[in-house]
Amino acid sequence: MTLRLFTIVVAAFAVGAILAGVWMLPRQGQPVVVQEGTALVGGPFTLTDQTGRRVTEADFKGRYMLVTFGFTYCPDVCPTDLQVMAAAVEMLGEEGGKVTPVLITIDPERDTVAQMASYVGNFHPRLVGLTGTPEEIRAAARAYRVYYAKVKDESSSAGYTMDHSALTYLMGPDGKYLAHFPFGTKPEAMAAKIREFL
Ligand code: NI
Repeated sequence: MTLRLFTIVVAAFAVGAILAGVWMLPRQGQPVVVQEGTALVGGPFTLTDQTGRRVTEADFKGRYMLVTFGFTYCPDVCPTDLQVMAAAVEMLGEEGGKVTPVLITIDPERDTVAQMASYVGNFHPRLVGLTGTPEEIRAAARAYRVYYAKVKDESSSAGYTMDHSALTYLMGPDGKYLAHFPFGTKPEAMAAKIREFL
């Protein structure tokens, strides 16, 4: 996503959060369960990694997953995000080995397995790049409450770019949501937060 579109995405996310909040309001007579909206982030997915292997959320069981959604043709926000994730994992030293950084593309049209393979290594040797069919990507994005949309972009050779929410999630070894990081989080802050859970 471009910085130009960032404000729109933040606004869209805010609206989504409000809607989610309304949706989660307890119905009368039901017990009130205090739960953060983000606790609903995550869930099953079936995707393909950069080696062509089919993977599901079960493949990440027992490992912490630091996951973000983006696309390899993203001019600025995604590369920055991935650099921060990689730096945070490195700052954790040996403990960082428990954390698998993951990029899930929201642009499966251009982000083929080969494209993901040539991209992820630029950021971290253990960065996993996941792609899939448009339906598989839609399901994964829905599970993580990620907004994305194709937008016209004359300056791009493909004629479009992707607008998407720029959040990074920390998921636990049981696949459950632990924390999230907004765009602009410093690697030191991300590493410190992750360390609380390791
Ligand atoms: Ni992006």
